[in-house]
Amino acid sequence: MTSCIIGIKGQTPSSTNQVDVWFDSLKSIASVLSEENQHLLKIIADKKPENITELSELTGRAVSNLSRTIKTLEKHGLINIESFGKSIRPKIKYSNFNILCDLSFSGGKKDLLENKFTLVSMFTGVGGLDMGFEGGFKYKDKYFESQPFSTLAAYEKDEKCVETIKKNLDIPISQVELSEELVNDFPSADVLIGGFPCQDFSSCGPKRGLSSDRGQLYKVLVKYMQHHKPKIVCAENVPNLARMQKGAVLETIVNDFSEQGYKVQVWDLFAPDYGVPQSRRRLFFVCTRNDLEGEPLKPEPKFVGMHRGTKWAIEDLEKVIDETIPNQSQYFKASKAKKGNGQGDEHCKADEPSYTIRANAKSRVQFHYELDRRLTIRECARLQTFPDSFVFPHSATSNVMQIGNAVPPMLSYEVATSIKEFLLKQD
Ligand SMILES: C[S@@+](CC[C@H](N)C(=O)[O-])C[C@H]1O[C@@H](n2cnc3c(N)ncnc32)[C@H](O)[C@@H]1O
Repeated sequence: MTSCIIGIKGQTPSSTNQVDVWFDSLKSIASVLSEENQHLLKIIADKKPENITELSELTGRAVSNLSRTIKTLEKHGLINIESFGKSIRPKIKYSNFNILCDLSFSGGKKDLLENKFTLVSMFTGVGGLDMGFEGGFKYKDKYFESQPFSTLAAYEKDEKCVETIKKNLDIPISQVELSEELVNDFPSADVLIGGFPCQDFSSCGPKRGLSSDRGQLYKVLVKYMQHHKPKIVCAENVPNLARMQKGAVLETIVNDFSEQGYKVQVWDLFAPDYGVPQSRRRLFFVCTRNDLEGEPLKPEPKFVGMHRGTKWAIEDLEKVIDETIPNQSQYFKASKAKKGNGQGDEHCKADEPSYTIRANAKSRVQFHYELDRRLTIRECARLQTFPDSFVFPHSATSNVMQIGNAVPPMLSYEVATSIKEFLLKQD
């Protein structure tokens, strides 16, 4: 076992030390490495329990409480977890911890997490977009640090999405059917985010555009802008919106946003260019209040020519056929894949990003690149860059809809980072 060097963002000069684990603040280290948890780590090191039940007997702590703590320790990279059958076995990674805290070093970031930007979220779905702004999640081996945004309120009308959010994310979600009349009573925030409903703009939907009530829902965001004047608005939708009526639909929406006193950028982002192993393109409307200097920069596409393939994302799941990884045993049974029959019935390609995970796939989820079955719900979640700890608690049809509707958290993280950097420069 080895020593672990812990760094604190803004208080540890990163260039001079080999930091193993980064924390947001001393307070967060104190809470994760509390006396109780240090005692727990010592018991794991000394007694090497085979599973959580055994650990519960050794510590006298409830299994549910221990499971949460073990997940937190793993999320912070302080322990490893081995899965076998339905159980997990915690394994110690480090035997001692050294915290590097240089009081003379601020790195310009010292107050980053204390001074959070407030945020309101609309049409929240299961919070893929929100996760990028909140940060603090792990996807495969990478930990996405907490971001300096604090959600004051989130609104979603679908009961199942709200249940999923409550199970997984620590954001104040309300089940509300949004309309323009409601928003004046919502809290004012620095940032407004919202992926307004896309069915009427999608190439595979009824294509009613702005003529349906649902197509007009972006006006709830417009109303919020008019009344609350957030510094930044980040709205999201499908790229086909820009092609409808020779660009007239896009122009109308951009004009409506800009008339509230905003500079509007439209970013067309291809998710594989940002490391997402799935072929998904999305439009982001990034609106900056006119009195602010400059605008957020379009995130740099760091994975052009190096797209991640489906196999990279899900290969380790091939042999898992139970719920040791949540939602891995949940998939639609089907006979053989058909060649050239469209994404719903074909095998995906191992070395290329997968087809788009579609919200309206129903049972026609694409096939595994090698196995003769459709992708599991967990595999779909992986391709959307949801962490394995994010559990989808409903039927396969509802779960795939929730996943397919989401912004990949990893893509959203890039957008949020750019907005964060812009806002930090304003102060
Ligand atoms: C494209 S999804 C948003 C996905 C979300 N941005 C994410 O990343 O997970 C749109 C969401 O808007 C919700 N919605 C549609 N009409 C609504 C309304 N009037 N009020 C509140 N939510 C609504 C839908 O239930 C759906 O979850």
